[in-house]
Amino acid sequence: MNDTCRLYTDLAWLWPMWGDAATEYAHYCQHVTGLIRQHVKRPAATLLDIGGGGGKNVLNLSRDFDVTGLDLSPAMLAQAKELNPGCTFSQGDITTILYLIRAHGRLRIETDHWTLGIFSLDTWRHVLRETGLQVHEGRYNPGEDRYTVFTCVKKGQDAMRLVFGEFG
Ligand SMILES: C[S@@+](CC[C@H](N)C(=O)[O-])C[C@H]1O[C@@H](n2cnc3c(N)ncnc32)[C@H](O)[C@@H]1O
Repeated sequence: MNDTCRLYTDLAWLWPMWGDAATEYAHYCQHVTGLIRQHVKRPAATLLDIGGGGGKNVLNLSRDFDVTGLDLSPAMLAQAKELNPGCTFSQGDITTILYLIRAHGRLRIETDHWTLGIFSLDTWRHVLRETGLQVHEGRYNPGEDRYTVFTCVKKGQDAMRLVFGEFG
């Protein structure tokens, strides 16, 4: 991470001031939980929160799921762990390939590096479908913020969440 991401590195201590986890993040997380319940056709117990930051979403989502949080920034992960001492967190890069290995009741995350770029929404749509994931695209418009939310379901797995700010 370079200095364009100072909020996630040396200025990460500012993150808790960014909105109260229990109140301001609750509505969005209920929306996400609803999408997962709608699209996963069996009881979903686990959830991987990619780019989970300081763990404010994890705090809310862990009411309904056994959440594992993944983030690139050690400083953000430290905050997430403090806020969610009962959850599992791993450091990893979303642009790497993830292997989720469950053995003897424990989830292990291994990463493998691929060089990727920043993609447009159309490219993400194509790539997600190409992987064989069942992709459900929805909108989250709580106010001024507008997001595209992909709920992706893989056979034999639970769910993962990808969120994008709206472009253009
Ligand atoms: C705006 S924060 C969002 C945090 C959280 N999802 C939320 O809604 O509160 C974005 C997070 O993405 C993480 N991030 C940025 N690039 C990443 C990457 N390539 N792989 C994993 N995490 C990344 C940053 O470290 C940061 O914590």
